[in-house]
Amino acid sequence: MKTLLLIGMGAGNPEHFTVQAIHALNRATVFFVLDKGSITQDLVRLRLEICQRYIREPAYRVVQVSDPKRDSTTPRYTDGVEQWHAQRAEVVARLIEHELQDGECGAFLLWGEPALYDSTLRMLDRVRDQGLTGFDYEVIPGISSVQALVARHRIALNGIGQPIRITTGRQLSAADLDNVVVMLDAHCAFEAFVDQDVDIYWGAYIGTADEILIAGELSDVCAQIKQVRAQARLRKGWIMDTYLLRRRRRGAEN
Ligand SMILES: C[S@@+](CC[C@H](N)C(=O)[O-])C[C@H]1O[C@@H](n2cnc3c(N)ncnc32)[C@H](O)[C@@H]1O
Repeated sequence: MKTLLLIGMGAGNPEHFTVQAIHALNRATVFFVLDKGSITQDLVRLRLEICQRYIREPAYRVVQVSDPKRDSTTPRYTDGVEQWHAQRAEVVARLIEHELQDGECGAFLLWGEPALYDSTLRMLDRVRDQGLTGFDYEVIPGISSVQALVARHRIALNGIGQPIRITTGRQLSAADLDNVVVMLDAHCAFEAFVDQDVDIYWGAYIGTADEILIAGELSDVCAQIKQVRAQARLRKGWIMDTYLLRRRRRGAEN
């Protein structure tokens, strides 16, 4: 049987790599890297750095393939995602088929936590459902950008006995503002709520040497975050940012 390990690598800080992840890393002989193009060369580099830092026997191979691009012109967003997942499943099926021998262990280093806004698990289900190839897989959890964000801002994720919502910039609505973490937001969706009584805890490149943190009342720091974000994106060519919005409860404990 071929085995695939989906290893959560943390969201940027190599020291967030867990002991369980190090053990898993040392079981693998092949590492698959889906390269999303020059913008994410930095992210590929971090994966290679992790391999060099934590693998005891350097007898491993790295197989790098281009990640298919999502078609952003489809009328419905979900159609574009569906097509993209199908293409990625084919790429992964080919990798398992041609790059892994029977009895061998391959690994994907997945950004942050594999179960959070990452399509690899769904992609592997698809590969198995289609009977494309025979293999087994294991998931090793990682520190997500959500955990890294609240740790860096030194805040609790939830209010006492309260729920926490995690959503995308595309889905953010006024009904979420009690306590919400927003990811995958390319358009500063928080700006639509600048007149609301909410605090924002924002972070970009969290855990890396380029980390930027800004917190405060949204109406006070909204413009600053937009400006800093735009400048950082220009400087590095890409940005990953996450933020928590929390309605202010005057006099009440959060
Ligand atoms: C495709 S999702 C992957 C999330 C990842 N699985 C996790 O557990 O954090 C990418 C989004 O995660 C967030 N993100 C990931 N790493 C980050 C970092 N180091 N700093 C800030 N946000 C980050 C951003 O919102 C980014 O758009």
